[in-house]
Amino acid sequence: MNSIRIWNMRAARIVPSSRYSEGPKEAPSRAPESLQRIVRVDHAGEYAADRIYAGQMAVLRDKTPASEAIREMWETEKEHLVEFERVMRDKRVRPTALLPIWNLAGFAVGAGSALLGAKAAMACTVAVEEVIEEHYNDQLRILMNDENFDDSELLNTISKIRDDEVAHRDAGSEFGGKEATESYPSVTNLLKMGLRTAIWLSERF
Ligand SMILES: [Fe+2]
Ligand SMILES: [Fe+2]
Repeated sequence: MNSIRIWNMRAARIVPSSRYSEGPKEAPSRAPESLQRIVRVDHAGEYAADRIYAGQMAVLRDKTPASEAIREMWETEKEHLVEFERVMRDKRVRPTALLPIWNLAGFAVGAGSALLGAKAAMACTVAVEEVIEEHYNDQLRILMNDENFDDSELLNTISKIRDDEVAHRDAGSEFGGKEATESYPSVTNLLKMGLRTAIWLSERF
């Protein structure tokens, strides 16, 4: 046995065998287009929600009895955003190109509603969360009826976040938001229409 062959045999022994069995690390595969749309729009929605509460708190600060409840809802929205940022990374989904617009529009809607008072800010929450509950329920229905979809973790994430949004809607109602939406149905419907348009756009662009 020549010296080169002996050296090769020694080298082979000191290399962990798993290094060969694992092979090159594969990048996670990209989610199908329909799933990409779902993740993209949910991330956009949570991003906009964060901006709405930022706008409300910039105006209301700690000046109203509703401030604490609004701050708590804002904290939940930040957690939702972090969660969808993770899902986007895992599934290799790009964010919507419209984030800069949702940044400004979200803040403007939040600050604008808060300038009319805490009740109007809560009315904004009620109207937004009514649309978002419907949106997340639609997604859950689509995913559960898709026989090729088996990501139970994503289903749990969406249903847990949907429950948080329902709790926000109820908190908004407790602070008089529901009454305010009923007093100004045209403003409420305009806001809901804008939100449904933003959902449609964020899925596609
Ligand atoms: Fe949220
Ligand atoms: Fe929410």
